[in-house]
Amino acid sequence: MDINRIKELAFAKMGKRKPHNKREEGYIFYHGLRTAELAIQLREMIDETDNSKDNIIYAASLFHDIAKGIEPHNENGCILVEQVLKFECSEEELREITEIIRYHNSRGKSENWVKEIRIVQDADMLDHMGTMDVWLNFVHQAFDGKSVNASIDFYNNKMFKDYLRDCRSKLNYDISKKIFDDRAKFIHEFIDRLSAEGMGKIFNKDLINR
Ligand SMILES: [Fe+2]
Repeated sequence: MDINRIKELAFAKMGKRKPHNKREEGYIFYHGLRTAELAIQLREMIDETDNSKDNIIYAASLFHDIAKGIEPHNENGCILVEQVLKFECSEEELREITEIIRYHNSRGKSENWVKEIRIVQDADMLDHMGTMDVWLNFVHQAFDGKSVNASIDFYNNKMFKDYLRDCRSKLNYDISKKIFDDRAKFIHEFIDRLSAEGMGKIFNKDLINR
């Protein structure tokens, strides 16, 4: 499997597409690319020695959301990927790649997933946290023509805190939870600052009355 060729194919299929009208062009390609990079780093931290499935993990991550918007996107993604990659990898590799795509969004439903599935599930979730969550939120609000107050309200709503708790509980690995917590810490700091500065306040109290 030539991973550079796989990346080119991924861009050709997803690099210009808008999955829905509140996401940037190519979102699923760039999300797939970030997920792939994250997944390989997770694999290195979880199992330092065994890199035998890295190409499988990378390719599956790149294409995991190819059918986003055509639900069930995990099942339809498998059908699409079989077409796109049929001349790029062996039958066995293709079977392993589609297996990951099929179960990438079945988090928490089984303890029996192979390591590769569990890693991609975690990487996919982590890419929605931290700075990437802020990016998504701002793009979403901007497409709706909303003001900064919409983001302040969104982040201060209890539903967002529940969402964070739910996401964390579905992660498979302790290292993923640590990365999640680090990204969530940034989000909380960001919300505090956004809530102040978005209302015209000076966040750093030390700078007031100097
Ligand atoms: Fe995803």
